[in-house]
Amino acid sequence: MNARITLHKDFSIGETDNRLFGSFIEHLGRAVYGGIWEPGHPEADDNGFRNDVANLVKELDVSVVRYPGGNFVSGYNWEDGVGTVTQRPVRLDLAWNTKESNRFGTNEFIQWAKKVNTDVMMAVNLGTRGADEARNLVEYCNFPGGTYWSNLRQSHGFSDPHGIKLWCLGNEMDGPWQICRRTADEYGRVATEAAKVMKWTDPSIELVACGSSFFKMPSFGSWETTVLDHLYDHADYLSLHIYFANKENDTPGFLARSLEMDRFIKTVAGICDLAKAKKNSNKTINLSFDEWNVWYHSNDADTKIEKWTEAPPLLEDVYNMEDALVVGCMLITLLKNADRVKIACLAQLVNVIAPIMTEKGGKAWRQTIFYPFMDVSCFGRGTVLRCPVIADNYVSAEYGDVPYLEAVAVYNKENNSITIFAVNRNLEDGLNLNAEIAGFGNMELAEHRILCNKDLKAHNSALEEKVKPSVLNTSSVRQDGKLESRAGSMLLEINLPPASWNVIRLKKGVTA
Ligand code: AHR
Repeated sequence: MNARITLHKDFSIGETDNRLFGSFIEHLGRAVYGGIWEPGHPEADDNGFRNDVANLVKELDVSVVRYPGGNFVSGYNWEDGVGTVTQRPVRLDLAWNTKESNRFGTNEFIQWAKKVNTDVMMAVNLGTRGADEARNLVEYCNFPGGTYWSNLRQSHGFSDPHGIKLWCLGNEMDGPWQICRRTADEYGRVATEAAKVMKWTDPSIELVACGSSFFKMPSFGSWETTVLDHLYDHADYLSLHIYFANKENDTPGFLARSLEMDRFIKTVAGICDLAKAKKNSNKTINLSFDEWNVWYHSNDADTKIEKWTEAPPLLEDVYNMEDALVVGCMLITLLKNADRVKIACLAQLVNVIAPIMTEKGGKAWRQTIFYPFMDVSCFGRGTVLRCPVIADNYVSAEYGDVPYLEAVAVYNKENNSITIFAVNRNLEDGLNLNAEIAGFGNMELAEHRILCNKDLKAHNSALEEKVKPSVLNTSSVRQDGKLESRAGSMLLEINLPPASWNVIRLKKGVTA
């Protein structure tokens, strides 16, 4: 089976925003407690942060982490989580039917974010609360000093402002499952007033408004339209969320789901542009895909968790090989839409539907989905090139024609390299990929990283890493593939194994 792509230096989609490589930590299950934070663990530092987990987060080079929710934020009093730990109240968390001890809060999270070299995307509660608590939190975090809330931060040991630049105006406010869900008009009003006072407190911040909780939400489209009628002048981004499942065990259909993600992005971008036209505005609202992943493996187990326990093992999906392929296709889709999607958060980061898992008091390890995220985060920053694909298709009941090849390429000016990310959706056959690459001068094949396993249900555990990349380095990749110069272009020919995630790295040739 053959597929062809064409890349040219002059034809690009746009530059990646650094915040496209983000993730998410919610006060949910063991994400915080027993995940990033476990005082007493042999790997814990003086603040209780697990070094083994922090090192894996650093391997992922996560650019921004959304916090503290998620559904949790819609019932959260941020004041509960600051100040003397022994005086913090234990509360019921009605989002996940658990007990929240508040031993970990805003300042601890910001310290952890520094430790792992990531930025913070802070969400405010627009469920049970509103503009007043939101502006107070901005003042607490970002105001230098000399006011009630900034002095309180200083009295808690943080003399310098935290300087949080990116804020979410609530979470999934359209969802009946949300604590104090709002209609689009109610949300539009409360979010507008919150946005005004948050920006008056710190004009340098950027704000993300809630879009629909998922593409097939019955109110999709009308929710966005009403919310933007209210918020267009105050918000900077609109959010999208999506989770995919393979409950029917239809792997070809599952691998096609990224087409839905693409359609979702394009539709929301269109809605934002319609709002722009209606307002005759010069401002463009870009997109924040601040929750995306595969999520379904843990659904049954979650129904059996005892209510009102502290940090129970909720949403602990164990990811397999085919999930890694879907995550790879989703990452490619985000890159292909880098002109509109500026922020994206893999939901979530540790233990809860996460690339990193931990044992209490024990090991931390990489799930299958860790690898495509790491590859894109490490090699996918730069100029996303247009990447027209000519490939055979298969037919999916829901999406029609689905190309066997999903691919995109990113050019990195700094190190003069091109990285092609490609998924072969064909479960039986290898795919012979031909790429014509023009306008970059001579390039050389540097590396081919491949993630595949004949058993699509294979997964990793604390004991065994069954799914991990094999890396063909410079000398072996040149036996595996060919890159030659012809008529001013470079022609690449390389094989993609069945059902595989591939990262093909080209570097500027010495003779260029
Ligand atoms: O990421 C898990 C949950 O999914 C989040 O709390 C919520 O926003 C979404 O429904």
